[in-house]
Amino acid sequence: MIVRPYRDGDDEDIYRLARLAFGGAREPRPDELWSHWPGWHGLVAEDGDQPVGCLKVREYAQFFGGNAVPMGGVAGVAVDPHARGHGVATALLDAALPVMRERGQVISALYPSVPPLYRARGWEQAGNYERVTLAPELFALLEKPASRLRLKRAGADDLPALRDAYLEFASTVDGMLDRSTAAFQLDRLLEVDVVEIASGPDGSVRGYLTADRPEGDKLITYDLVALDGETALGLLANLARWTGIMREISLRIVDPAWWQLLMTLPVLHDVTNHPWMLRVVDLPAAVAARGWPAAAQLAPFAVDVEVADEHAPWQAGRHRLVVDGGKVTCEPGGTGAVRLAARALGPWYAGSADSAMLRRAGLLEGDPADAHLLDLLTGAPHPVRMADSF
Ligand SMILES: CC(C)(COP(=O)(O)OP(=O)(O)OC[C@H]1O[C@@H](n2cnc3c(N)ncnc32)[C@H](O)[C@@H]1OP(=O)(O)O)[C@@H](O)C(=O)NCCC(=O)NCCS
Repeated sequence: MIVRPYRDGDDEDIYRLARLAFGGAREPRPDELWSHWPGWHGLVAEDGDQPVGCLKVREYAQFFGGNAVPMGGVAGVAVDPHARGHGVATALLDAALPVMRERGQVISALYPSVPPLYRARGWEQAGNYERVTLAPELFALLEKPASRLRLKRAGADDLPALRDAYLEFASTVDGMLDRSTAAFQLDRLLEVDVVEIASGPDGSVRGYLTADRPEGDKLITYDLVALDGETALGLLANLARWTGIMREISLRIVDPAWWQLLMTLPVLHDVTNHPWMLRVVDLPAAVAARGWPAAAQLAPFAVDVEVADEHAPWQAGRHRLVVDGGKVTCEPGGTGAVRLAARALGPWYAGSADSAMLRRAGLLEGDPADAHLLDLLTGAPHPVRMADSF
């Protein structure tokens, strides 16, 4: 078996593998073929001349500490049923790591259906993608905004301003995607049923809501972006106006500000979560790319780590994380005082797990005081989320 880059002409074989893995019609629509979309690179595993597995890496960037960090979003991992259980998917992941590194994708995220496969190659759960289903009546119980929000349906001219509003919010939440990379097509936002924009007195976009109204009596929301509380309350109040016709609103939990601090919730409610995993692909470059807001407040210090990472050997071994003048750098060397498994790097980098958690999971060893310095850097533990699944 060999693993090679995707090439023109692979589309049909890949569609067959993907359909067997994930379902779908026998004949693909044009937009279901890989070549239809920009912003990705792919790998194909071949046994003889026969493609038996595939994997795609989307060109994304993910906010951490306020900076958009180049991220490879692994998706569409599929292996022909007869070829499963013989390490094909593992070989594809192994091949993807150096390719991502070469392409400057210094971290990698994925939505796992089989976490053990990815854990074995250094990815670990780090963030959430959550939804909640609520009755529209519940939104009517919320505090009303001081004045009734005027909304309009977005058109193509509004797209750049919508993106800017999204970015202004997303850059403040660790894990959110920067939607200005090649893998995103802004105009696709207009394909959904509801795109309502709230503008401020100066005409600038203060927030927006996107949603689909499928057959039946459930509204499905996507983005609910609001740059201030009044706009959030106004958009939520408009959701209450579905009362009487809709039984349920499936709300994608985008912003912890309105979800935690403005929503009125039933005592018991079910949140569904699709957790995603993160892996550090190139530690020194990932440290350089991330924002480190806490570093500006910290006196200079260094923490020595030793990374065990047999699948990304370029980052295995000893590193010194140096904090000085508000900057953090990762230099070779040091004493290796804190020992980290490859799987510890993703949750550490994201700030989703602190050193005590990593230690209890068997992913970190060494002096607790040194290890705690790693928490100070990221502000761990804190929730990390993404609003795009792939
Ligand atoms: C999941 C899938 C890609 C695995 O492909 P594969 O080539 O059989 O995987 P590997 O042989 O490399 O598996 C390596 C390890 O991953 C884990 N693993 C693989 N498939 C698994 C599954 N379905 N459930 C739990 N663990 C699994 C096992 O630990 C396995 O090691 P083992 O065989 O020694 O127990 C393949 O079964 C498939 O195409 N499934 C349908 C599509 C899918 O779920 N894709 C993943 C999307 S995130």
